Amino acid sequence: MPLKAAAHIEAMSAFALANFGGYDQPTLAQNESAFPPSPKAIEAGRDATARSHLYPDPDWTLLRDAIARAYGVERDLILCGAGSMELIACTIAAFAGPGTDVLATDYAYNFAASAAARVGAAYVKAREHGFEVSIDAVLAALTPATRIVFVCNPGNPTGTCIKNTELLRLRAALPGDVLLMIDQAYGEFDDQDPHALFALAGRGDTVVLRSLSKAYGLAGARIGWGLFAPQIAAELRKIQNSNQVSTVSLAMAVAAIEDQAYMRAAVARTSDIRDRFAQGLRTAGYEVPESRTNFVLVRFAEAAAAAAADNALRGAGIVVRGLAGYGLADCLRITIGPQDVMDRALRILTALRGRLCW
Ligand SMILES: Cc1ncc(COP(=O)(O)O)c(C=O)c1O
Repeated sequence: MPLKAAAHIEAMSAFALANFGGYDQPTLAQNESAFPPSPKAIEAGRDATARSHLYPDPDWTLLRDAIARAYGVERDLILCGAGSMELIACTIAAFAGPGTDVLATDYAYNFAASAAARVGAAYVKAREHGFEVSIDAVLAALTPATRIVFVCNPGNPTGTCIKNTELLRLRAALPGDVLLMIDQAYGEFDDQDPHALFALAGRGDTVVLRSLSKAYGLAGARIGWGLFAPQIAAELRKIQNSNQVSTVSLAMAVAAIEDQAYMRAAVARTSDIRDRFAQGLRTAGYEVPESRTNFVLVRFAEAAAAAAADNALRGAGIVVRGLAGYGLADCLRITIGPQDVMDRALRILTALRGRLCW
């Protein structure tokens, strides 16, 4: 008899990362930072390599202290993980399973679908309108099987923002036995005050997730954190491997969080390049929703036009993200990279728009 995986694992597909053709070329396909991490983080990581014979601190003590200070959140609510992906997967595994639904929105971060599939939960989508999450549509899609509502704010791949007041309205309208997950991987790019959302975590029915992969430029170090009430954290701790964040990554993360000025400058520069790139694309005639992230979504007249643009950019060594997997074959997602790369991308897309009459 041939070896068989569990039926729900056989039935799922692997989580698709971007097709960026190798690690040796810069890519605008993965929403990595345009800037390296803080020099203080690099130095701290270098120093920490000498302690690599020791297992990392499974309680992330120094990192939780640093996060609590920098974000004004309660230290005891913080859990850290190997990227927010680990925390997303563990939360979904702990609170969903066969016969239950994880309710997300049309264009929520796809990894949540993969995390639901691996525990045999159904992944259901509420409609978005004009690339924006509609809280009313989320509430209308609730069923007795809904155990988790997963929303991204700001969103990936749309880049758009939900007003925090709308998220508070969502929480107030959800039943108490439905866990609300608010994924804020791009939270540092959102100019709304996050404290009202952070405060939801204390209720015991909401988790808020953050990442150091974007604003802090630490995607390769794999660090995320989130706010979890004690009764939720206790369940996650049963399935989380607390040694997952390496000693080197922990040291880098602490130094990066302590260097808020560097992070804020990187976010400001990225946002500035983004806004000028988006405006240039709109002037050329493309539809580009307002982004509060380190990328933009560009909508073309049709899928063939998006594919032509993808090819033209690839031909010039600029790899961006196709979105057919989200049902958006007429769109591309373009990460904000260094200014000169964005200038080249804008020239190529402007010329393309002029050549073809979409
Ligand atoms: C919305 C969203 N959430 C979570 C993640 C995962 O981030 P991390 O690198 O912290 O695992 C990403 C990565 O692109 C993302 O876009």
